[in-house]
Amino acid sequence: MEITIQPLHHSTPELLALVARLHHAVMPTLLSDLGIPFVERYFQAGAADSSVIGMVALLPDGRTPCGYVIGCPRPDRLMAQLRSPFLWFVRQILQLLFTRPSVLLQLVVSALSIQGQMGEDPSVIEVSYLGISPETRGAGLGEKLMRTFLDACRQAGYRAVALSVEIENQAAVAMHKKVGFQVKKAFREGRFNRYRMEILL
Ligand SMILES: CC(C)(COP(=O)(O)OP(=O)(O)OC[C@H]1O[C@@H](n2cnc3c(N)ncnc32)[C@H](O)[C@@H]1OP(=O)(O)O)[C@@H](O)C(=O)NCCC(=O)NCCS
Repeated sequence: MEITIQPLHHSTPELLALVARLHHAVMPTLLSDLGIPFVERYFQAGAADSSVIGMVALLPDGRTPCGYVIGCPRPDRLMAQLRSPFLWFVRQILQLLFTRPSVLLQLVVSALSIQGQMGEDPSVIEVSYLGISPETRGAGLGEKLMRTFLDACRQAGYRAVALSVEIENQAAVAMHKKVGFQVKKAFREGRFNRYRMEILL
């Protein structure tokens, strides 16, 4: 048996918890900084949202995720689902306030800066996250996962796929270019220099 790729929507709660841990380990994003409970909530919300397109790559044992990609037309709306259930959210925020207030500050800054920037064109879907476990990198899996994702977006009727990537992330930039993404612009976001990339389907 070889590595298989299946839709995120087919994931059991146990698999989603493992995908969340994989994301937390390989993607040093604000979502990861918020902690595993938020990452788990994010993937649960993604798997339950019909506007989301996501794929999970599984090792030959059929249960261990080694890669994932998730995208949606309104990433801000998916992130907004982290606020429910409300009491759970308040408890998590209070915990952050007392343990890691700087992460909370980043969250507020990020929420303010993305307001109104996304989802202007409903025919474009945004890749939110893509990650491959370090042990399975360099064997073509990231490319395969991205091509499977692009096929699913095409079948769902999207016109284009867009993403932002740090310019210094040479592996990701090279992979995106290889599958056909083009750089639309370079921009600065906080302390990061990023490319905005797009592919027409
Ligand atoms: C970027 C990432 C997804 C690539 O996954 P991968 O499975 O290792 O990539 P692949 O083996 O499919 O490689 C596909 C192409 O990407 C490029 N590439 C991959 N790794 C590279 C590296 N270390 N340096 C330069 N180019 C690289 C090559 O063009 C490669 O094609 P080739 O093998 O014919 O030369 C993986 O490194 C990763 O998970 N990184 C951490 C998370 C991340 O950066 N996600 C992307 C955020 S937008």
